[in-house]
Order: sequence, then structure tokens, then C-alpha cells
Amino acid sequence: MDSFVIEGGARLRGTLRIAGSKNAALPVMAAALLADGKSVIADIPNLQDIRSQIELLKLLGCRVDRQADGKLEIEVADESCSHAPYDVVRKMRASICVLGPLLAKRGHVRVSMPGGCAIGDRPVDIHLRGLRALGATIELEGGDIIAHADKLHGAEIFLGGNFGSTVLGTANVMSAATLAQGTTVIECAACEPEIVDLADYLTSMGAKISGHGTPRIVVQGVPALHGAEHRIIPDRIEAGTFMVAAAISNGELNLDNVRIDHLMAAVDKLRSIGVIVEKSGEGVTVASARRLEAAIITTQPYPGFPTDLQAQFMALLAIANGNSIVSEKIFPDRFMHVAELTRLGARMHREGATVIIEGEQQLIGAPVMASDLRASAALVLAGLAARGTTTINRVYHIDRGYEKIEERLNALGANIKRVDQSEAE
Ligand code: EPU
Repeated sequence: MDSFVIEGGARLRGTLRIAGSKNAALPVMAAALLADGKSVIADIPNLQDIRSQIELLKLLGCRVDRQADGKLEIEVADESCSHAPYDVVRKMRASICVLGPLLAKRGHVRVSMPGGCAIGDRPVDIHLRGLRALGATIELEGGDIIAHADKLHGAEIFLGGNFGSTVLGTANVMSAATLAQGTTVIECAACEPEIVDLADYLTSMGAKISGHGTPRIVVQGVPALHGAEHRIIPDRIEAGTFMVAAAISNGELNLDNVRIDHLMAAVDKLRSIGVIVEKSGEGVTVASARRLEAAIITTQPYPGFPTDLQAQFMALLAIANGNSIVSEKIFPDRFMHVAELTRLGARMHREGATVIIEGEQQLIGAPVMASDLRASAALVLAGLAARGTTTINRVYHIDRGYEKIEERLNALGANIKRVDQSEAE
């Protein structure tokens, strides 16, 4: 198991290209199961979660090839296996997004029920409710979701839950509805850019979808979909993470391949605390040269502040001027990073789903443990700002969502070594 050893204090400077979005790529890859014919998808990042999704697609009868230019070709060759087993699903929860496409295309599917994870309980009841409304019969057996439908039919579906809309639930229901008979209206649909990207891909495959990007998506079913070419949108969470890296190190970064319109809530917060963020061409320049101000942040579904940037901003606010308040409204238990940031000297007090941060702290390097993807990113950011050496154990979490993050940060002036854990201890 690898660890990172970070010598803090460097000011990051330079230019970096943001990769294609992991969370857009995963449902798009699953949607390729709906097509008769080959899809070619550009800007799929080279990450552990993507490799797990490729393995799953192969298991489900797809031929998957990465071309020399990085594009991924996906073509269904054999439809006989529709089973996503526990071994795969437990490694990557997003495997659940094969549920809708397999049900619609093959009429039956068996997907292991994903468990909870380090960011909390993550039920899939709303996915199942939506697919049942389209006419599927669904039962649970031996920890698996087993769904059947001779032919799905259009329906009016309310897809909201206690925490608002669901991103992968919307992806599943919207994908399944493309091949249903008649019209489906999804109310309280997720508005995230990743859903818009999926709708764009489905549309280029021949689907008839409108309203994506709003809470009301309308899908008119079609008899069949064909393969298509598609380019994945830039990863807004990776972009936000590197924006915080510029701010926390008092540096200046030019980030290429950024859709600033996908990041307005985060950019607004950065500007309000004193970070300079300017659009430049296809990207942004982010700079900070002074002690930042405190902020009040509440995570919300898009276009609100993203839960996937909550941990990274908390690391930043630990060294800002004054007291900040961060409330988590999507995953109320997503605070595993709080205790680890505290080990680095941050002063944080949690009350339920809210954390109060007493800023003005100089962080001091220490050994810490990565618990999940975004928590690991927060620890790397804190390590960049800390005095002395920070050792982050279990960095396999970060490899799920950021390609070679240490090499890319080092190219900007950071000092991070990847070592085998036994060497780090
Ligand atoms: N929820 C339910 N029932 C459901 C589905 C969701 O109660 O059937 C609840 C969840 O427990 C949560 C809320 O609804 O409280 C929203 O969850 P959502 O379904 O939107 O999450 P997701 O689709 O499983 C995706 C991203 C997450 C990101 C969330 C929220 C992917 C692969 N994952 O998960 O990304 O945090 O949306 O934006 O797209 C990450 O990249 O680090 C990550 C965790």
C-alpha cells in the first residue's frame, strides 16, 4: 500500500491540464451498453475507478479498447451475462449505473446491492423506485438486486429524496427510459453537469431527451440506439481541488480545460474569501497572495456548492482568518477528514452535520490516514500548507479519482514522494 510523504511550504506555480470527468465518464461508459454498435469516447481519465468500470463492461460482454490517443472504444459483443457481482460493486459503488442500461436493453439484470461507504449510508431506493415506475419488477436476493421487464413503458416519476435529487439515480432512470415505450417525465431530476453530459451522449446515440440540466427531464422512448462519438466534460471536482491547491499554497496556477460555468458556487466562495479567479481562454487562472477570510459553506445539489469539494475547502478554511462554518446537506456523515485535519493542528468542532472551523492556524505536518477519495485530497492540500513533513497513508483512495496527483503537483513545485507504506513507517 502506497503512502505520500509531503514536505510542506512550497508555493505552487505553473500550468496544468484538468482531466476528463470521472463522474461523467462512469455513467457514459455504462450507457454504451444500450447501443447496437461501437462508441468512441474521448477524454476518459486514466483512473482506478475507470479501470474497474472497464473490467465490469468486459464481464458484461463488451469489447473495450483504449486507442493510442486515449479514446476508449466500447462495443457490446455478447449479451448473455447481465450480472454485476459483489466483487466488482464493492470496489466501486458507481457500478450501480449499469442497472438502468442493462434492464432496458436486455430485459433483465442482477447487480449486487452496493453497501455504505466511508462517506455514509448510500441507499439506492430511489433508483429502484424509478425503475419500478417504468414497469420493472425488482426483488432482492442474496444481497443482489434482480430486475426484470419485458418492455419498459414511459411514466411520470418523482425522483427526489430526503437529501434532494440523486445523480446516479437520475442517470439510471434517464438511460432506461431511452428505450421505453412512450414518454417519461422525471421530476426532481439531478441538474449536475454529469447528467447533461450523459444526456448529450444518449442524444448522439439517437435518444430523444429534453430538459436535461433542469429538474424536469422528458425522455421519449425510441426502439433502438446506435454507437456514437462523444467527448467527456472536464472534471469540475479535479479543477476545484487544484484551485484550492493554488489558494492554500499562496501560489498561482493556470488550469486548462476547465468549465468555469460548472464551478460557479466554488468560484464564488473562493472570490469571497480573497482568492483571485479569472477566466482565461479554455481555463482559469487562480492566485492568492495573502491570508484568506473565513466563509460559511453549505453543500447542496448542483448548482449549489458541491459535496465533493467540502473536504478540500475545509483544509483551506483551517488556515483562513477567523471562524468558518461548513454544513453538509448531501452526505451528513461525510466528515472522516475532520479528525485527520485536527491531527495536523486544524481546530475543528463538529456538531451533527456542521463543523465550525477556528481559522488562523499554522498546520504542522504529522502522519494521517486517507479514508476516502475527497478526504485524501483534503489531506494532500493540508500537507502542502503544513510546516514540516506530512505522511498520508492509504493513498489508494486518491488514485481512484486523481491521476498521478503527486507527479502533477510536483511539476508545479510541490515536494511529494510516493513510497511503499512499510518505508514510510
Ligand atoms: N440517496 C438516497 N436514495 C437513493 C440515492 C441517493 O437516499 O436511492 C441519497 C444519498 O444517500 C445522498 C443523496 O441522496 O444523501 C445524494 O446522493 P446521490 O445519489 O446524488 O449520489 P451518487 O449519485 O451515488 C454521485 C457522485 C458522488 C457525489 C454525489 C453527490 C458518482 C460516481 N458519484 O454519487 O461522487 O458525491 O453524486 O454529488 O457520480 C466522489 O466523486 O467522490 C463522489 C462520492
